[in-house]
Amino acid sequence: MRKLRSFASSLRITLVGLGRAVIFSAALVVASIFAPIAQANDALKHEEHPKLYNWSFAGVFGRYDTAQLRRGFKVYKEVCSTCHSIKMLAFRNLSQSGGTEFSEREIVELAASYKIKDGPNEAGEFFDRPGRPSDRFPAPFANEQAARAAMSGAYPPDMSVLAKARGHSRGFPQFLLDALPFIAYQEGGVDYVASLLTGYVEAPAEVKIPDGQYYNIYMSGRRIGMPPPLSDGVVTYDDGAPQTVNQYAQDVAAFMMWSAEPHLNARKRIGIGVISFLLVFAGLLYFTKRRIWSKVAH
Ligand code: HEC
Repeated sequence: MRKLRSFASSLRITLVGLGRAVIFSAALVVASIFAPIAQANDALKHEEHPKLYNWSFAGVFGRYDTAQLRRGFKVYKEVCSTCHSIKMLAFRNLSQSGGTEFSEREIVELAASYKIKDGPNEAGEFFDRPGRPSDRFPAPFANEQAARAAMSGAYPPDMSVLAKARGHSRGFPQFLLDALPFIAYQEGGVDYVASLLTGYVEAPAEVKIPDGQYYNIYMSGRRIGMPPPLSDGVVTYDDGAPQTVNQYAQDVAAFMMWSAEPHLNARKRIGIGVISFLLVFAGLLYFTKRRIWSKVAH
């Protein structure tokens, strides 16, 4: 009787096991049928996580690299500025400390090389005049509609604060650490911009890209209305840095980061000062407290 019962129970276990195996293999079959379809959709839906670059301005002691900012400005001026405005930047900002740090003379020359719309004059007309250091960078298009009309409907966003307007979460569990002081991750925006500029690849065969759109693995939806703006050698550097897409991308991203946060150097310097002061002050308070209470019986 006992034998029979144990036989029945082992039979039950075997059957349950078999049942599970059947369900599992059925699920596998279904998954393998739908996987290619899902993958094709994935190829469009999910963008890649941006690459993590090694920025000079990351971390508590981070500082902008002046030479890099100058190169980045050159890339902006010669390439990106044909489509993207940078409205919040005035020529004279480029002489601020902690930025590109151009001399006053260089700024005057740079400003004069631009034509600025001004007016009305006494005759009530608008006219063009050479730029002055206090002028802001003129936009390449008169307005958003003109930009869209020229760019098959896409709008090149203003670059003044774009590096900080974009970003990404590194996902669990990294994002928990990313919020902590001292090791906080604040480079999501620049990592994204630099990745985006190097993210143009051949679209997979099953993905159809409409006219005026390009396949970019870092853009959300993997389609972007910006033609690949960079190619090796398009900008000439005079400081010996490599003239490659990869280098241009990092330099212009760093420049965009500076434009979005021009006071980063000062912010980090003051932060270190304040924390050091608080540490010393906490030590002094501790010893003062010990001294005051040392004569009280407790
Ligand atoms: C030929 C015009 C053109 C040039 C040159 C160009 N862009 Fe763009 N850019 C666009 C357009 C159009 C969009 C909007 C794309 C969209 O919304 O699909 C865009 C979008 C972007 C975006 C935002 C992507 C997002 O997440 O929405 C970034 C960042 C960017 N460009 C950076 C640059 C940089 C840096 C350069 C210079 C190296 C540059 N672009 C040169 C046309 C241009």
